[in-house]
Amino acid sequence: MKIIVTKDYESLSLRACQLIEEEVERRPDAVLGLATGSTPLGTYKQMIRSYKHGRTDYQHVTTFNLDEYVGLTGDHPQSYRFFMEEQLFKYLNVPSNHTYIPNGTADDMEEECERYERLIDEIGPPDLQLLGIGQNGHIGFNEPGTPFDSETHLIKLAESTRKANARFFDTLEDVPTRAITMGIRSILKSKRILLLASGERKAEAIYRLLNEVVDEKFPASSLNRHADVTLIVDEKAYHKVEETGGNRSVE
Ligand code: F6R
Repeated sequence: MKIIVTKDYESLSLRACQLIEEEVERRPDAVLGLATGSTPLGTYKQMIRSYKHGRTDYQHVTTFNLDEYVGLTGDHPQSYRFFMEEQLFKYLNVPSNHTYIPNGTADDMEEECERYERLIDEIGPPDLQLLGIGQNGHIGFNEPGTPFDSETHLIKLAESTRKANARFFDTLEDVPTRAITMGIRSILKSKRILLLASGERKAEAIYRLLNEVVDEKFPASSLNRHADVTLIVDEKAYHKVEETGGNRSVE
């Protein structure tokens, strides 16, 4: 795993944006894997800012998102479809029929999972997959214990994840209990992975990622089995590794 330690969240976001833009410049029809949550917001802001200056053309790009809540339609303000439209898609020229997100209101969820995985295989896999990490090591919505050979599937959200995400909803009860997520194997199909982690609350997860054995109890540890992962982490999220002697080069 390649590790880039940045001074703060802003430089982390800039660096991630640069790597995404480089990918699209190298490969104008790149397939990008995208994530929601707080961490990529700065990256998306930088992409939008840079797009406004005419730097990167997304007209041939395709995107796949990791996950979606079950039961929320795309126009629900807390759905991940809505999040992506508001935080990124509406500002870029990526064609809307090239932006894939699991359908959280499909009649048959099992069929939706299969359909999504097939799309990833047929159109993807992503040339570059952007990931955040949960405090419990989840990636996508793959909670601890998810088999490493899982593909897109339906999951019950861990209470800790519902609590962590409750900040986006009016009450904890409003947070859906299930979601559809790309599995660990689906994520590892990506050619290259960019994992972002920022802030003190991620320090423990980053320490575990870099120090623990690869184990399904800590889903992000599966990334150690992928040949091309870049971790971009800010000083606050890296401090525990550093205190125990990790090497680094600050940008
Ligand atoms: C989002 C996702 C999640 C988040 C993770 C971190 O699509 O799949 O795994 O990346 O929960 O969330 P934040 O960035 O809000 O700390």
